[in-house]
Amino acid sequence: MNTQVIHRVPRKPAPPSPLPDDRRAVESIIGERKALPGAMLPILHGVQEKIGYIPPEAVQLIADGLNVSRAEVHGVITYYHFFRQTPPGRTVVQLCRAEACQAVGCDALADHAKTMLGCDFHETTADGAFTLEAVYCLGQCATGPAVMIGDDIHARVSPAKLDRLINAKRSAP
Ligand code: FES
Repeated sequence: MNTQVIHRVPRKPAPPSPLPDDRRAVESIIGERKALPGAMLPILHGVQEKIGYIPPEAVQLIADGLNVSRAEVHGVITYYHFFRQTPPGRTVVQLCRAEACQAVGCDALADHAKTMLGCDFHETTADGAFTLEAVYCLGQCATGPAVMIGDDIHARVSPAKLDRLINAKRSAP
């Protein structure tokens, strides 16, 4: 059994929580990024990184901050699957669907992940434990299929290895 973590990325700063506690954070992100070219995307990325999703209240703040309509902000959020409009599960499982991982079986792994978690991509398990997301390259192209579970990236993930990783995460304190 090989469930060794091959790469760890910095922990995200805060778990999801509702506005208004996050209102200042959203306003701060808008203030820092609204002068950037194409500021909408950097702001949305910042909000999702901080809060875990884009709350409806943030849409109005972003619209006001960029002097655009709510519909315009909403259009960008819905265009990019990356952005969530609801809080994610306690752990996000990101499965690489890009070309190199496709060549080594990520489609079958994706089918297995959906069955074992009981949810599709962009959905959360009934117990709120996991959200399954598709991503397009985790930087492990030579050792696919690659999966990121929480902050940990795993390589050469077979269906059996995915089961072990998910079960280990599920039973972790
Ligand atoms: S293609 Fe999957 S990690 Fe790069």
